[in-house]
Amino acid sequence: MARITSGVSTSHVPAIGAAIDLGKTESDYWAPMFKGYEWSKQWIKNEKPDVIVLVYNDHASAFSLEMIPTFAIGCGENFEICDEGFGPRPVPVVMGHPELAAHMAQSLILDEFDMTVINEMKVDHGLTVPLSLMFGQPEAWPVKVVPIAVNVVQYPPPTGNRCFNLGKAIRRAVESFDEDLNVQVWGTGGMSHQLQGERAGLINPVFDNAFLDKMVNNPESLATIPHLEYLVEAGSEGIELVMWLIMRGAMGEKVNELHRFYHVPASNTAVGHLIVEPTN
Ligand code: DHB
Ligand code: FE
Repeated sequence: MARITSGVSTSHVPAIGAAIDLGKTESDYWAPMFKGYEWSKQWIKNEKPDVIVLVYNDHASAFSLEMIPTFAIGCGENFEICDEGFGPRPVPVVMGHPELAAHMAQSLILDEFDMTVINEMKVDHGLTVPLSLMFGQPEAWPVKVVPIAVNVVQYPPPTGNRCFNLGKAIRRAVESFDEDLNVQVWGTGGMSHQLQGERAGLINPVFDNAFLDKMVNNPESLATIPHLEYLVEAGSEGIELVMWLIMRGAMGEKVNELHRFYHVPASNTAVGHLIVEPTN
């Protein structure tokens, strides 16, 4: 059967992708940020996951204000790279796992999570920047990806609790797939940031570090954070953190913390990164 072996969460700031693509990772500004991912890149080389269930949000790139699914699952053979205004990032096409994705769609929907099934879509920095952070610049991505897109751009996004429970359902879905696959679940976005309005530039390290602690030891307490609290404490884009709860829900009750990194700032955002493995 397929197994969930670990969970990764990371910010997905587009400027990180640009720094990688333009060869600026060693600059004074970027070097300390990329240092926090060195351990992770080595670790994932040894882990060799077959598939990543990659939870991210589309930033009105593939979707638009005309169509915004709350939760969507990518069931295609592959996913091309969005043009977000500067041409598509020069990264490999993302290969899907249509069999696992179709199984997950069935399992999740019959488990009462009404996923939008997507057979064709492009993916933006929300999905590609985490891949670049973890795998660098390969000719082809060394894993297949099942994209799970979450609406955090148009009110109302799903609650943290709904996301946490979706994570639990993702675990049931993966573990009932009859093929021996090493599967990781990733949650992307965050940490605190606000890109617009009077409080643009807001970063809250106290909130973020407490969030990192609770991701490991007390995720139930994170699942009850209301939207307004994300807005006040973590800025208007801090709501992306609900996607970390999907990853955490998929890990089961207890986890081992393998790696943690926190860095301020990258572009307008506090970068947070966590790697955990389930203990049960
Ligand atoms: C930034 C961060 C994001 O998560 C995003 O989607 C876009 C921009 C930023 O910090 O610039
Ligand atoms: Fe984002």
